[in-house]
Parts: sequence; structure tokens; C-alpha cells
Amino acid sequence: MAPGGQFLRGIPVSNRLTWCALAFGGLLVLSGIRGSGIGIGSTPSGAEPQTLRMAAQSHHLLMGTAADAGPLSHKLYASTLQTEYSVLEPETEMKFGLIHPEQTHYDFAGADKLVNFALANGMKVRGHNLLWHNQLPDWIVSPAQPWTPAALNKVLADHIATVVGRYRGKVYAWDVVNEPFNDDGSLRNYVWFDKPGIGFAGQGTRTIEQALRWAHAADPNAKLFVNEYGAETMNAKSNAVYAMAKDFVRRGVPLSGIGLQLHVTPGFDQDGSLNDLSKNLRRLAALGLEVQFTEVDVRQRDGSSFSQAEQANTYKNLLDACLRQPACTLFQTWGFTDKYSWIPESNPGYGWALPFDKNYKKKRAYFAMLAKLNSRGNDGPRPSRSR
Ligand code: G3I
Repeated sequence: MAPGGQFLRGIPVSNRLTWCALAFGGLLVLSGIRGSGIGIGSTPSGAEPQTLRMAAQSHHLLMGTAADAGPLSHKLYASTLQTEYSVLEPETEMKFGLIHPEQTHYDFAGADKLVNFALANGMKVRGHNLLWHNQLPDWIVSPAQPWTPAALNKVLADHIATVVGRYRGKVYAWDVVNEPFNDDGSLRNYVWFDKPGIGFAGQGTRTIEQALRWAHAADPNAKLFVNEYGAETMNAKSNAVYAMAKDFVRRGVPLSGIGLQLHVTPGFDQDGSLNDLSKNLRRLAALGLEVQFTEVDVRQRDGSSFSQAEQANTYKNLLDACLRQPACTLFQTWGFTDKYSWIPESNPGYGWALPFDKNYKKKRAYFAMLAKLNSRGNDGPRPSRSR
């Protein structure tokens, strides 16, 4: 049995109960009875929910966004965040380099601010992330003395225990490992894996497994994810993610689900990728895992009528793919306003990627998602609650 005794064949007990509830939930859907919408943001009976957060609630779907601590002091940023979203994920503040800048010093200020804001507004927090090749501090990448695997093992074990332990009971889910695979399905070579690694170089996904086990020990109730980009459709990378997930489930490694990032262009729903996405969701769901859309953005060059229409369609279709798959428990965008988005820096000329423009004006993409959530009867039976 896995640590904590909570996992049977990798599926938390609560998940298996949810799957039983599914059959019943399906009957309710067929008979036209939907979720009550009780809770934060419920609407008077008869009225259509006016926010993404409220509208998603009746599908038992979490609506999330990445956010930064800096702009929380801007009134419109904070009010949009708390009104429209039920999940907040720190975009950078929990990354190794920011939260653990010196070997003997952690800086929790930004992360604490975001966690406190979310909890005060009845939102869940998704932690991002514990093990990644990017945004590492100098003391990790350029040490005075080369690392030994044993020393690095201790560093990572302490880091995960400290960060997950601090937010135990507050962060409901963690991206424990971020982007561990190359596009060809091989494992990425970097400091935590094999340069020099934490002692498991050449042992396949053992480093990922170890990180999951450390995180589980630090907070046995947190959901634990491996998060990837480019693994949304059927390809070498998603096959590798699937093989890892299947193996972990079989051996009771504490993995709750897979995060699919979904940084896309409107081309995504014009070339068969949507079908592939659904296929991929089905095979991951069949393992009993959750799948979460973790970093959705649909980049466009401008806000012309054509661009807006294309973008709205892609957002709507991605949301539809999630709604149709009961194992898809979160639809999260990577930020919500173009005022703060990583896109223009990494994709110059594409400043138009999120559901709100730079002035927090709702785009057609926003309204397309709201309409999708408020339409009835075209998504499958969903769990009676967000697992
Ligand atoms: O913290 C420094 C600050 O001290 C300095 O003054 C400032 C000057 O540029 O830079 C700040 O660091 C920046 C950091 O974001 C915090 O704002 C980095 O330069 C910048 O590269 C970093 O970019 C983030 C990137 O991850 C790397 O961590 C993006 O905002 C963030 O959107 C992006 O997110 C990733 C996900 O974590 C994983 N999936 C892909 C996604 C997009 O790349």
C-alpha cells in the first residue's frame, strides 16, 4: 500500500467514491436536475450565473487562473480574480528560485500573500511547482563546489518538506513535477535528474516518483500532479506521460492526476487536435486519474473581429472538451488579463491571449466560455463535486 494507506492502485479513496457517485449523477443529469449551485456565488433559482466561477460550479468544475502577488493591490485585478475564479495558482512565487533564493533562506512573502488572498475569498490554491528545470537559484545551478547526488537529494527532500509542509491544508493540489519530458518522450536531462541528479540517474521516472512520495509525506491530503506542455494530444510525449501514469497507478505511487498546460493558438481546433485531446483525456481518465487544464491561453496577434471570433471558438472548444470528460476537474487559464501575461515576452507580437483585455474588459472568449457553461445538456455526466 502507498504511504498513508490512502491509495489503492494509485486511486485515492475519495476518487473511487466519486466515480460511484458518477452513475447517480448521470441519472440526475438525464432527468434534467443539475447541481444546486449552493456555495460561494450561488444564484437565485432561475437566473443564469453571471460569472465563470458561478457558472462552472453547477458542472462541479473548478475555474482557475494563475496570479501574481504584485498586482493584488490593484482593485480591478483583485476583484476580477475573486469574482470570476475558484482556484488561484501562483504564477511564479512558489517556484524554487523565488521561494528558496538562498540555501539557508526561504522567502514566503509573495506566496503567503497569494495563499491568504485566495483563502479569504473562498478559493482553492494550486501550488506550482516543486521540481522544475527553470527558474532555479544560482546556489543550485552554479554551486561553489559541484553537487553530489546525495547532497542534492537532501536539498530537494528538505525543500519539498518545507514548502509543502508550510502550506499543508492550505494548498489543495501541487504541480509536484513540472515539464519532466522532452518532446520525443525521453526524460529531460538537468540538475535534478542526472546532472548529477538526486541519485536515480538512469532509473527512468524514479526521480519523479521520489518527489511525489516526499510531497505526499508532507501533506497526505494534497492532490499531486505531474504537469506538462505539449502532451495534450496523442504524441510521443503524451505517450510517455501516460506510460509513467499507468506505472505509478499500478504501483500505488501517490499521483492524483496529470496537468495539461494548453498554451495554444486557434490552430488547435482546426487540425484534429481536439479529437486527440479527448482521446488522451479518456485514456488518462481510464486510469482513475484526474486531468486538469492548468495553463490555458490562446494567443492571437490582435483584437480584430476575426481574431476575437477565432479565439472565442478555441476557448469554447477547449472548455467543451473538459466538460465532456468527468475526470477533467479544473479549467485554468495562465493569467486572466492581457495586462499581465507571459505571452508578449515569449511570443512577441501575440499580446492578445487571455479572456480579459489589458483594461479588464471581457472579450468574446470570456462570453463564449460563459455561454458554454450556461448551456445545458451537451456535456456528459460530471462528478457530484470537484474531487
Ligand atoms: O523575479 C525577477 C525580478 O526580481 C526581476 O526584477 C524581474 C526583471 O525581469 O524578473 C523577475 O523574474 C521573472 C519572473 O517571471 C517573475 O516575474 C523572470 O524574469 C521571468 O522569466 C519569469 O517568467 C515566468 C516563467 O514561467 C519563468 O518562471 C513567467 O512569468 C511565467 O508565466 C512562466 O510560466 C510557465 C510555467 O511556470 C510552466 N509552464 C510554462 C509557463 C510559461 O512559460
